[in-house]
Amino acid sequence: MKTQIFKIDSNNINETLINEAGAILRRGGLVAFPTETVYGLGANALIPVAVKATFTAKGRPSDNPLIVHIADKSDILKIARDFPPDAVRLIDTFSPGPLTVILKKQPSIDDAVTAGLDTVAVRIPSHPVARALIKAAGVPVTAPSANLSGKPSPTNAKHVIDDMDGRIDAVIDGGECEVGVESTVVDMSGEIPVILRPGGITPEQLRAVLPNVQLDRHITEAVSVNDTPKCPGMKYKHYAPDAEVTVIEGERGAVRVKICELLEKACAEGKRTGVMTMSDTDYCADLVLHAGSDNKEFAKNMFTQLRTFDENGIDVVFAEFFETDGLALAVRNRLYKSAANRVIRV
Ligand code: TXA
Ligand code: MG
Repeated sequence: MKTQIFKIDSNNINETLINEAGAILRRGGLVAFPTETVYGLGANALIPVAVKATFTAKGRPSDNPLIVHIADKSDILKIARDFPPDAVRLIDTFSPGPLTVILKKQPSIDDAVTAGLDTVAVRIPSHPVARALIKAAGVPVTAPSANLSGKPSPTNAKHVIDDMDGRIDAVIDGGECEVGVESTVVDMSGEIPVILRPGGITPEQLRAVLPNVQLDRHITEAVSVNDTPKCPGMKYKHYAPDAEVTVIEGERGAVRVKICELLEKACAEGKRTGVMTMSDTDYCADLVLHAGSDNKEFAKNMFTQLRTFDENGIDVVFAEFFETDGLALAVRNRLYKSAANRVIRV
């Protein structure tokens, strides 16, 4: 399959191109598109064969449900059979934006979308290109992150093309994603709201609206293979570059000393070394990348940097991590996964 590339400026959306991309989606094709979080791999949520094709293109396990993307709040009851007042408050506060709510599904939503669950994930993205595409398609759009399953999520069109060229109909290049980590997934289908995946909206922001929001324990604890988290995606190895990543956390001076020690050892073993920093770049390694000085900047750059280490044939990466702001939970969650839980606290 030849993958078409549409370059669309979010400040000046080309109607002809967006309508063409919308038509591909509507008739069952796969179109990757930018959102404010990461690039998504869109399919028509009403065509099960199209939805299933996203799983094949990504190599994604079929028991991991997808998020349904819509442009307007008024479409929620077409997807969900219940829209409780607390969910309305979250949507009114944080949507359009990096929030996904889990609600009880409408019977018309196919099992291919929800992996057989009785609930459905719904999100209203804020990115102008995403919104225009959903409107042009005229249907709800399922969209997992547009990476090969297990790889770091794509935050620009090049990442998508590297993973998906030849596997999907089209990619819309709309530049870099603003947030850089995925949406926060909040389960609103039960008595108590529970964060199933930390993301672009922080727990503090959510608690300002709903003080009883809980954190699912799988976010803070390592997940064993026999365990079944409520957010199925949380159990899979994720965000992993080919390089072996180790996270080093703690007091800044001690982190630096530890990384220098690890670099020396890795060099002696003949490995190509990398450091992803939140502080200075004066490390003695083959490639040193500054991902950001705070967690917000780090979130935006992290997935690009992880891919850059692979492009440069780096064998081992040591990543500094310091908690600086509300996005720390989301960043730490992705970083630990990319490191397969290899974490050193000093
Ligand atoms: O920011 C985002 O959310 C991006 C952009 C493209 O919108 N999408 C994204 O999709 O991250 P994906 O498929 O990579 O992650 C969706 C997560 C998975 O962890 C999945 O298990 C969970 O949402 N999920 C989907 N439906 C669910 C449901 N009914 N109950 C619990 N978790 C669900
Ligand atoms: Mg993903």
